[in-house]
Amino acid sequence: MNAGSEHPFRTRSLGPIGVEIEGLDLRQAISDSAFAALRATVVEEGLVLFRDQSLEPETQIALGKRFGPIEQLVVGDEDAEPSMVKISNVDAEGRVRQDEDHFMKLIAINEGWHTDSSFREIPSSFSVFTCVVAPEEGGDTMWAHLQRAFDRLDDGTRSRLVGRAGVHDYAAAYRARGNERGGIVGFDSDPLSHPLLREHPESGRPGLYVSEHMPEIEGLSAEEGEAVRSKLLDLVTADDNTYRHHWAEGDVAIWDNRMMLHRAQGFDQRYARVMHHVRVAGSEAPISWTPN
Ligand code: SIN
Repeated sequence: MNAGSEHPFRTRSLGPIGVEIEGLDLRQAISDSAFAALRATVVEEGLVLFRDQSLEPETQIALGKRFGPIEQLVVGDEDAEPSMVKISNVDAEGRVRQDEDHFMKLIAINEGWHTDSSFREIPSSFSVFTCVVAPEEGGDTMWAHLQRAFDRLDDGTRSRLVGRAGVHDYAAAYRARGNERGGIVGFDSDPLSHPLLREHPESGRPGLYVSEHMPEIEGLSAEEGEAVRSKLLDLVTADDNTYRHHWAEGDVAIWDNRMMLHRAQGFDQRYARVMHHVRVAGSEAPISWTPN
């Protein structure tokens, strides 16, 4: 247990953002009090990481369910289990897929900074993400802290953003990466708007809500919107506001999409990379932050 804390585990800083947790085995039954401490740590830090904990898919889904109902999502393969997306460049025959494969075009969208399921009225709250096969080189994931970025906004920019909304458009994000077909099965991904400044529903802390899957800002011309988006993304993704993780088999990351951006990094497709992603459904639409 950390000195002076009630946590039944130890935490160690990963750098500017995020913590690694030691002393909690996710493969074993987790008591309600240990789970409450884990959930509080995710909401406090935004990102927690565990090492050497290869989780069976059902254990990963069960862990996700402790956070809330699991979002059902089928990406690409209509026969896939909707509670867990397999982000994999290995096909059913065990062959490594090439860049032109449609599924690879689908997951390429993850290389833009985003939060999960911002194409929904109620986007994902938490993500539970595991590394099943790590590539020999590359294939890292990065996270960036939206609340710390809000704290760094100058007063003028902050007041200009109050009440404004960004348009999240997955079809446009797919098209920007050469995929005209999309591929989220059974989901009509019309563009929709979310506030640029959001209040976290559990901590009350304000944060930015921007993404590379957000091509427009309501009420601004395309050029003005792009200038604001890129200024905000630069602020959020500054080196001292991000963490980059190089995966090893058995690593588990849990993050809070209501306060963190993330992105996949490209890698040499000669190497297999298999990741399992469980998304927890949010419980409310993003709450617009306004000053008191
Ligand atoms: C994701 O963006 O959902 C996946 C990130 C990754 O594959 O690293």
